[in-house]
Amino acid sequence: MQLFLDTTDTAILADLAATGLVDGVTTNPSLIAKSGRPMLEVIAEICGLVEGPVSAEVASTETEGMLAEGRKLAGVATNVVVKIPLTRAGLVACAHFGREGIQTNVTLCFSAAQALLAAKAGASYISPFVGRLDDHGADGMSLIAEIRAIYDAYEFDTEILAASIRNPAHVTAAALAGADCATIPPGVFTDLFKHPLTEKGLEQFMSDWAKTGQSIL
Ligand code: G3P
Repeated sequence: MQLFLDTTDTAILADLAATGLVDGVTTNPSLIAKSGRPMLEVIAEICGLVEGPVSAEVASTETEGMLAEGRKLAGVATNVVVKIPLTRAGLVACAHFGREGIQTNVTLCFSAAQALLAAKAGASYISPFVGRLDDHGADGMSLIAEIRAIYDAYEFDTEILAASIRNPAHVTAAALAGADCATIPPGVFTDLFKHPLTEKGLEQFMSDWAKTGQSIL
């Protein structure tokens, strides 16, 4: 399972990318606004920090505008994936990008029917928003399982990118549900390393080791 960071914070990205555990990055217009930086500049910097796919979202809501913006974004770096909203106009643009060899991430997916259309449009990735469904009292993770079943049944190549991740349990559940990737806020990514029993066990190991008076080197 690939683990992406959902961020435009390049300092935090550089720090976590140094673990070797970050397979790519996703951004969206809200994260770009939060960065306070020009979009093309921050996307170019992110693309230099990771070798894997970097999702950069179009701002237009019409097909022709999406195509023009997506082609420009794809020109920023070879690892740019053009992110498109799951609308009729977006899926028409998605099919065009597929024919042009431009990777796509179809975002704002909230139903299996939507995901079916995105796969038929040739999306490289589909981004079901788990956390936002949970926020509305639905079972966001069941959507991942539904999409997995449909994509496997019809041998679609579109990769399931679990998005709107709120906690480490979401990452585990997405992996169990068969997601190909998860895009994770940096704070949640950092929490993935942590467990109180690991910390307690390490303290005990270090305490017992200190009593030996030994040095390995
Ligand atoms: O960037 C895509 C998605 O992960 C954002 O979800 O709910 O955290 O804004 P959310």
